[in-house]
Amino acid sequence: MKFAIIFVFVALLVAGFSIAQTAPAQRPQMAEDVFKNVQVLKGIPVDEFMSTMGVFSAALGMSCEDCHASNDSKWENYALDTSPKKRMARRMVQMVTAINKDNFGGHQMVTCWTCHRGTDHPKITPDLATLYNRPDEADDLIPPAPGAPSADQILDKYIQAIGGAQRQAGLTSFTAKGTSVGYGPEGTPRPVEIYAKAPNQRTIIIHTQNGDSTTAYDGRAGWIAAPLRPVPVLELSGGALEGVKLDADLSFPAHIKTALGKWRVGFPATINDREVQVLQGSGPGGSLATLYFDSESGLLVRVVRYSDSVVGRTPTQIDYSDYRDVDGVKMPFRFTVTWLDGKENFELTEVRANVPIDAAKFARPR
Ligand code: HEC
Ligand code: HEC
Repeated sequence: MKFAIIFVFVALLVAGFSIAQTAPAQRPQMAEDVFKNVQVLKGIPVDEFMSTMGVFSAALGMSCEDCHASNDSKWENYALDTSPKKRMARRMVQMVTAINKDNFGGHQMVTCWTCHRGTDHPKITPDLATLYNRPDEADDLIPPAPGAPSADQILDKYIQAIGGAQRQAGLTSFTAKGTSVGYGPEGTPRPVEIYAKAPNQRTIIIHTQNGDSTTAYDGRAGWIAAPLRPVPVLELSGGALEGVKLDADLSFPAHIKTALGKWRVGFPATINDREVQVLQGSGPGGSLATLYFDSESGLLVRVVRYSDSVVGRTPTQIDYSDYRDVDGVKMPFRFTVTWLDGKENFELTEVRANVPIDAAKFARPR
């Protein structure tokens, strides 16, 4: 349940860091411009800095307040160095950077997860129980499988399965309504709105008790705005930006073949007891995404996309199901988004295709 706690604490950090919200749109805001006491994670954009906090928490099985003595949830306290764990984490960042530099040519081969694997205390001795009962853990990088179908074949089958290229090309926009159930304390259904416009604009709004939680991509820039966060409107950069672009691209699959590059097909895998084809592609900035298509129906059932951070990749997984017909094209009416800090189960009740949408819906949220 720790991640639920993390989630609440991200929320409780309060809007105090809003100070530096007026930076120019071009250069992303750097962590040290916004936060008070950044010593080792300098020179990275604010959104990546927040991702590193997610990686720390996940890798160590900790909540934010394990390192940030902040039981009263005052955001100022996050700059304090009273916690020995926080000070240790700084040393560990430097240690990991040195390990990678000295042994792996600076490539990110060792991360916090490599040793910690969800605990504060890395294990010293092989555990016999896990040795003989090892769960399958796929690598992030999918090795191309000899004899696999081509990427084009898999993507063509998918396009066919969702109504065909012509019908897809005729889909120029849609709006959707539904509900979303979050993880832990966010566990009651909240109303959701989605706006999407071809080729790649998309906004999703969750009306939470504390205010709207919005993810928007206008075709070039992307933002996550949420109530009670350290940075109320987080401008996305790097892999996180490529991630929301991919979500938008996948809303209009007519263009799926160009949504990513360097496609490679791996060995088939299994999701929910069904065989899936595994297809991986790369974004223009080097971000990574793996798409899983049901071998039989051809439908897209899962996307795992990764964005880089200085302390390791951060994964986001989206599972799609309940495909239904909307004006001749098939769309998933259920999807679940899982990331390091939380989980949202979306259920759509109404989707309307080819409706006019005000451009302001995709702009930077207020
Ligand atoms: C394992 C320890 C650890 C955990 C867990 C952790 N942090 Fe941090 N946090 C740090 C360290 C270390 C720094 C300072 C980084 C530096 O000096 O470059 C920091 C700095 C910050 C800052 C900047 C404060 C300022 O003004 O200087 C914020 C905000 C923050 N963390 C938020 C969070 C949130 C939110 C979470 C939970 C999702 C979290 N942290 C989890 C170790 C941790
Ligand atoms: C090469 C292995 C290794 C890597 C990589 C590593 N750690 Fe550690 N870490 C350890 C060991 C060993 C300890 C000591 C554990 C103990 O005392 O039981 C430790 C302890 C810690 C502690 C203190 C935990 C506590 O409860 O007092 C923190 C915080 C921590 N690491 C954070 C990190 C962070 C953040 C990263 C990634 C930047 C990281 N570690 C990467 C091996 C590693």
